[in-house]
Formats: sequence, C-alpha cells, structure tokens
Amino acid sequence: MKIRILGSAAGGGFPQWNCNCETCDGCRSGRLNAIPRSQSSIAVSSNGLDWVLINASPDIRSQILANPELQPNRHLRDTGIKAVFLMDAQIDHVTGLLMLRESKVRLPIYCSARVKSDLTSGFPIFNILEHYCGVDWFEVKPDGTPFTVPGIDGIQFEPFALTSKAPPYSPHRAAPAPGDNLGLVIRNVVTGKCALYAPGLGVIEPPVEKAMREADLILVDGTTWTDDEMSRRGVGKKLAREMGHLYQSGAGGMLEVLSAYPNARRVLIHINNTNPILIEDGAERAEVRAAGVEVAQDGLVFEL
Ligand code: MLT
Ligand code: MN
Ligand code: ZN
Repeated sequence: MKIRILGSAAGGGFPQWNCNCETCDGCRSGRLNAIPRSQSSIAVSSNGLDWVLINASPDIRSQILANPELQPNRHLRDTGIKAVFLMDAQIDHVTGLLMLRESKVRLPIYCSARVKSDLTSGFPIFNILEHYCGVDWFEVKPDGTPFTVPGIDGIQFEPFALTSKAPPYSPHRAAPAPGDNLGLVIRNVVTGKCALYAPGLGVIEPPVEKAMREADLILVDGTTWTDDEMSRRGVGKKLAREMGHLYQSGAGGMLEVLSAYPNARRVLIHINNTNPILIEDGAERAEVRAAGVEVAQDGLVFEL
C-alpha cells in the first residue's frame, strides 16, 4: 500500500497568498530555509495505478501535475483517481471537488451524512457538480465501521468520529455531532500494517489512542507549534484548540502525545504557514527531530 502526500500545509498553504508573517515572508524571499507546501491532501493506492484521494484540496490541479502517478494516460480522458474520501467539509479539504468537474464519470464520494449535509447546504458543491459530472455519494458511518472502495484491492478504511466542529460556514457549526470531523485508519489487509490519518485533531480521546497504538504510521495534525500562535504572529486571535487543532510544544502538546508511540513512524501534517517547524534549520524543528517525529513534505510517499 502506498500513501502519497499531495499537500502537507494547512488551509492557505505555505506561503499563504496574502501573508507576510515571519515564515511566509522568509520562505517567499529566500531568507529562511523553508520549503513551500500545498494544501492538505493525501492519496492511497494498492497497485500504484488506482488511487483514493483523501480530501480534495484547492491545489488539486497542481498536485496532480506534481504527481504523474495520478494521471496514467490510458485513454483520451483519464485519471488514476477512482474515488474521493472527505474527512470533513472544511474549505481546504473539499474545494478541489470543483476542479474535478470535467470527470467523465459521476464522482464517487465517500463521506459522512453530516459532511454531505454541509456540502448540499452551506457550501452546496454536490448540487453544483450535478450540473457537471455529478456525484455518487457513499455514506460512511463515523463509528469505525470498515469499508472498501471498488477497484482498490486490499485496503480497508476505518473512519471514526473526532470531537471538533463543522466549518464556520456550516448551518450546524454551533451544534457539533459525530461525523463533522473524522479520523481514519487505513489498513493494508494483506500485510496487516496500518496508518492513522487525522489532519484535524484537537482532543486525544480513547479511539484516537487506540488507533495510535495500532498504527505503523501516525500522520497527524501539525497545524501550530503553540496554542496562541495566531496571536503571537499577529495574524489572528483564535487559539489552535478553538479551531480543532492540538498544538505541538510543551505539556499536553502533540509531541508529548506522540512520545507514547515510539515504534510508529510519526509524521506531522497540515502545517499552518505560521508554524516555526517549517524552518528546516530552526530550533523548533530540531526539537521535533529530537522527539523522533518528522514533518511532512509534498511528494513524500510511504509504503506499508
Ligand atoms: C482548519 O483546518 O482549521 C480549516 O481548514 C481552516 C480553513 O478553513 O482554512
Ligand atoms: Mn484545514
Ligand atoms: Zn504566514
């Protein structure tokens, strides 16, 4: 099983179009040793030809160009993307669906009923796509029930509910319910190896711990270094945890959480453009490295 990182940055990407914070400016100007990153998405395949796209980022077009495995060129119009799985209805995870409207078949989309509800109301992408390629919706239950995707042999997907909120535009933003945000165990049923993918993870609850204990690869929320990073950088007021993201540093942070799973490959993903771990030779990155944890980069491939 291959897991390919298409985009490793949080919403806005890195550097963000309108941002001149320390890291964005440092990356853009070349003053800092920092690598640009596109917005949050991965792809999974067992045969290297047929892929499940997990989240459809606004950067999908450049991500496909950068990963030719997703464009196998067998017919006049062709794609390696067999289906799309959505972890939530956040703009950085779903907007790419609009870029896939030229699809020659109805797009098979796997997501929870809650996410479908947002994508047919507050951000009615599904309705819009009916005027283009159309959508075939497959409901996934947020209770760990495994499912498989036709054409993707030997891989089992196990989605479970995370405590978080629907996106700011959602009609049910103020009334969170299971299915608004998912964590996902991706299992190779042939080798028995599995990965946990959770780009938005604010609270470490028992189902998350269970998945972390089992996982050979832990790919989790690397949005911010400190809880108050947005105000620290002068770009916002919200705490990371208010946005459904657990910070990395210090007591109770993600590095401490990950220290309990030393046998897994542990990788931070969905990195916000303000995060100092983006500086390759910075002190925070050295701390991450010393903890045995990696920082995801676009184009990285894992074999499980
Ligand atoms: C998040 O991960 O908190 C959201 O994707 C933020 C956003 O919409 O940019
Ligand atoms: Mn996001
Ligand atoms: Zn920035």
